[in-house]
Amino acid sequence: MTTQAFTPEATQARIQHEGLRSKIMTAEQAAELIQPGFNVGMSGFTGSGYPKAVPLALAARMEAAHAAGKPFRVGLWTGASTAPELDGALAKAEGISMRLPYQSDPTVRNQINAGGMFYSDMHLSHVAPMAWAGFFGRLNVAVIEVAGILPDGRLIPTTSVGNNKTWLDIADHVILEVNHWQSTGLEGMHDIYYGTRLPPHRQPIMLTAPHDRIGEPYLHCDPEKIIAIVQTDAHDRNSPFSPPDENSRLIAQHMIDFFQHEVKAGRLPANLLPLQSGVGNIANAVLAGLNESPFNNMTAYTEVLQDGMLEMIKSGKLTFASATALSLSPEATQYFTTHLDEFRGRVLLRPQEISNHPELIRRMGMLAMNAMIEADIYGNVNSTHLMGSTVMNGIGGSGDFARNAYISFFMSPSTAKGGAISCIVPMVSHTDHTEHDVQVIVTEQGLADLRGLAPVPRARRVIEKCAHPDYRDALTDYLDRALAGGAPGKHTPHLLQESLSWHQRFVQTGDMRKKG
Ligand code: COA
Repeated sequence: MTTQAFTPEATQARIQHEGLRSKIMTAEQAAELIQPGFNVGMSGFTGSGYPKAVPLALAARMEAAHAAGKPFRVGLWTGASTAPELDGALAKAEGISMRLPYQSDPTVRNQINAGGMFYSDMHLSHVAPMAWAGFFGRLNVAVIEVAGILPDGRLIPTTSVGNNKTWLDIADHVILEVNHWQSTGLEGMHDIYYGTRLPPHRQPIMLTAPHDRIGEPYLHCDPEKIIAIVQTDAHDRNSPFSPPDENSRLIAQHMIDFFQHEVKAGRLPANLLPLQSGVGNIANAVLAGLNESPFNNMTAYTEVLQDGMLEMIKSGKLTFASATALSLSPEATQYFTTHLDEFRGRVLLRPQEISNHPELIRRMGMLAMNAMIEADIYGNVNSTHLMGSTVMNGIGGSGDFARNAYISFFMSPSTAKGGAISCIVPMVSHTDHTEHDVQVIVTEQGLADLRGLAPVPRARRVIEKCAHPDYRDALTDYLDRALAGGAPGKHTPHLLQESLSWHQRFVQTGDMRKKG
């Protein structure tokens, strides 16, 4: 929708700061303010709250520049993944030189894996402090979506907060997209904390429960830095979730049995501990399982609030959810937007340096549930790479939560590609989470509680509980031979020539299983 399509009344209602109204322009005009070689910090986290017009106009500029033989690329920093109108469009225009801190876009992924784009895949809680410290270089311009601007210039955030506070603080210049699609009812549902510092000036963050408010509902930005305001009326990406398949349902059931066992053993309270749930369909299935479970009065302190958690709030099972972004299907978005008052006081969105803060995760004693690509027999986990070198998405917040949680769970079906890949392998082809940060591994076959075990008993348990029957004997054979004399050390024995041979076989033959 173009600027002309907004009535003066609608514009005035959204942009209440009189001086800033003079900076309204089209997306194309705003994109002219971004120069080749800039670092650009954009809003956006898992398909929510990303700018929807300026990136498209910038991509068109880049394409025109390329056609004229002039390279036009920028460094792109966001909260996390975004959407085809941002990551997709800029990547198609071959306009991204360096991407951070997380992506899940197919075009971006292909370019990274083809060696055409650099990607710094990092813990999401590290991004803001590293940016303040200047490790990424100068941030030339920030492009941030907001729901409105108050008369004094404070900004109403939208469906994600991510790194917006940081980009607004450190960018030389700011372009705002005021999105009329975003509900003004979101006002008051954010908690923006302005107390984080770099060492040696850090102070305790006074948050002890997911519902604690420690900040304010608005983002700040020096109006002098704002060089353009673009009005839009476009919806978030809002990808649908697939209904839980049999494997996801089995994984969810193993998790719930485990929680019941832990409550009975007195190791978890009856309402569990604050939940963190990762991205994707398995995580959503576990939440659906928890919604049917006997647990009540649960809370969540997580990164993204997806459909499963919304359902748990609706049913009353979940009393409060803190996150940095909504990641809802179109139906759930519709429900959330039209029933905002049902969620007011039960949902808070915070900057990602707070939603993922190690101090807070450790203090609250969280149950961190994330998906993985593969685990090895000793419990090391790969969340990011296929066959050792092809990046999938990125580590996201999984490390922030896993390293600091009370219990960290990693979940996956036991096989992939119709059984040709075992997700339990002798040695992971890439390590994101070490055995020291992984307490429980879950597949549809079962759940391996690895707490308190030394490496060899861990390996026996992972093989017995989690490996697919087609691969169990081969894994046991590997471990037995490594123990019997193949390896010089018996603490974490490996057969080095063989440890990655399953991956090598898949690369060469399309199947990890030995023929014959
Ligand atoms: N080796 C090779 N490929 C594998 C594999 C393995 N061990 N396991 C799965 N795959 C393939 C699948 O076949 C599928 O391929 P396809 O798209 O060609 O069909 C692809 O990898 C994705 O698998 P799927 O089971 O659909 O994964 P998912 O959507 O549940 O996502 C992760 C799993 C690990 C990729 C995803 O959760 C992720 O990116 N995690 C890291 C970030 C994170 O945890 N964020 C949350 C923190 S708050």
